[in-house]
Amino acid sequence: MKSHRAVAALVVIPLIMPLAVFAQDGTLVEKGKSVLAATSPKCTMCHAVAGQGNAKNPLDGVGDKLSAADIKAWIRTPREMAAKAKSQGKPPMMAYGPDKISDADLDALAAYLLSLKAKK
Ligand code: HEC
Repeated sequence: MKSHRAVAALVVIPLIMPLAVFAQDGTLVEKGKSVLAATSPKCTMCHAVAGQGNAKNPLDGVGDKLSAADIKAWIRTPREMAAKAKSQGKPPMMAYGPDKISDADLDALAAYLLSLKAKK
């Protein structure tokens, strides 16, 4: 009977969908990791990421505290964000425009930074 198949599809598709979304997220995070490694000037000049780099401004745990939009704003407009956050961090961060990090790469980079949760 055809209707059985239709019902089966209705049940199975919602079960598979979240897995597909999850897998896509994983790939985006991996891509973001390589964007961070490839970007110049190096983020790790001023930040520690996954324990590597300048320990003064660790980005580990940033996923617990910032949204994707905040992270992107830091990368595109750090001066404004530093003023908003009353940041005393040194040396001040320079802006990375689309010439340095494309919009697509910025999405991946934000996904990667969001995945950096503080170790409990
Ligand atoms: C010249 C130094 C420098 C470089 C290079 C740099 N940053 Fe920053 N960044 C800073 C400083 C200083 C702050 C403010 C830190 C604070 O106030 O805790 C900051 C803040 C941030 C924040 C917000 C952190 C928070 O805890 O709120 C993010 C996210 C960030 N930077 C990402 C990046 C990424 C991604 C790169 C590379 C593409 C990068 N930064 C390169 C200096 C730098």
